[in-house]
Amino acid sequence: MKNKFKGDVHLKQKLFIVLLIVFSLFLTGCGNEKKNNAPVGNGTSTGKSLVLYFSATGTTEKIAKRIADLSNSDIVEIVPKEKYKSEDLNYNQDCRANREQNDSQARPAIQNSIDIQSYDVIYLGYPIWWGTNPKIILTLLDSYDFTGKMIVPFCTSGSTDIHNSVEDLRSHYPNYQFLDGKRFSTSDSDNEIKEFLIPMEEVIDTMKVTINEKEYFVSLADNETTKSLISMLPLELSMSDLNGNEKYANLDQSLPTNEYSPNLIEAGDVMLFGDNCLVIFYQSFDTSYRYTRIGHIDHLDDLGSQSIKAIFEK
Ligand SMILES: Cc1cc2nc3c(=O)[nH]c(=O)nc-3n(C[C@H](O)[C@H](O)[C@H](O)COP(=O)(O)O)c2cc1C
Repeated sequence: MKNKFKGDVHLKQKLFIVLLIVFSLFLTGCGNEKKNNAPVGNGTSTGKSLVLYFSATGTTEKIAKRIADLSNSDIVEIVPKEKYKSEDLNYNQDCRANREQNDSQARPAIQNSIDIQSYDVIYLGYPIWWGTNPKIILTLLDSYDFTGKMIVPFCTSGSTDIHNSVEDLRSHYPNYQFLDGKRFSTSDSDNEIKEFLIPMEEVIDTMKVTINEKEYFVSLADNETTKSLISMLPLELSMSDLNGNEKYANLDQSLPTNEYSPNLIEAGDVMLFGDNCLVIFYQSFDTSYRYTRIGHIDHLDDLGSQSIKAIFEK
């Protein structure tokens, strides 16, 4: 079975540099600058999490229950209308599970109705079937609107990692936000599960940004600045490059500020410099500048040296 699924850093000089920096800041209105990690929200979020899982033979269910317990989440099983009997799971033969996995149109019906509305974070669990998620997970994602939800996949399997299944889900649902997820074994410790959990105080809200036609999600800090920014959406900005590590644009109006010194900028950080300069950092570096935190983009690509067009939407 294991083999079967394998596949997968003079004073005049210093003065000159200081003057150069001051001049460039004056010109651009934007400076470069650890994270006051508190993606904070616009008041629409609930701060609640849900564990949603499918499990044919009980293994994923065991992990799902432990995740729910340790994260204080609600838990709901995805129940197939037609339960999977052992012969349906006999992957060495032409069984129902194999036929579904080989059929791109297969969407096995779900028996129960599921309320995802009141949750910000959804832990989505499934067994790996033929290297990816069972098709019933697509039925689920087709049936409900997961826009703006943080979907945190987890799986169990004989040996196959979760990575390919998450890539499959991202390509099926490019507008949904899937974190990288994790494969668990029933022998994994509570600490391993705890490390995987999302600190809910850091997950309040998100907005979408499309850069060079690729969509990203910005997890938002909970402050007056983000609330003001959200009230301006949608925003289409032409953002210039600065220093090979940030893209910036001046907004038409000033936003409230709450500046701090992050000391370290991490790639993906979204900040306000001054009261109207929106900055997306695509490289990590140490900084001495002060910013107001807007949020953070996970998995932001290297944006290169060109100016970008960025569309911010709720
Ligand atoms: C149809 C089918 C296909 C499977 N494909 C894989 C696979 O590709 N890689 C793997 O490591 N395990 C595979 N497995 C094993 C299951 O992922 C594993 O037993 C899982 O823990 C079962 O979870 P459950 O008890 O929640 O259903 C497969 C099992 C079935 C029934």
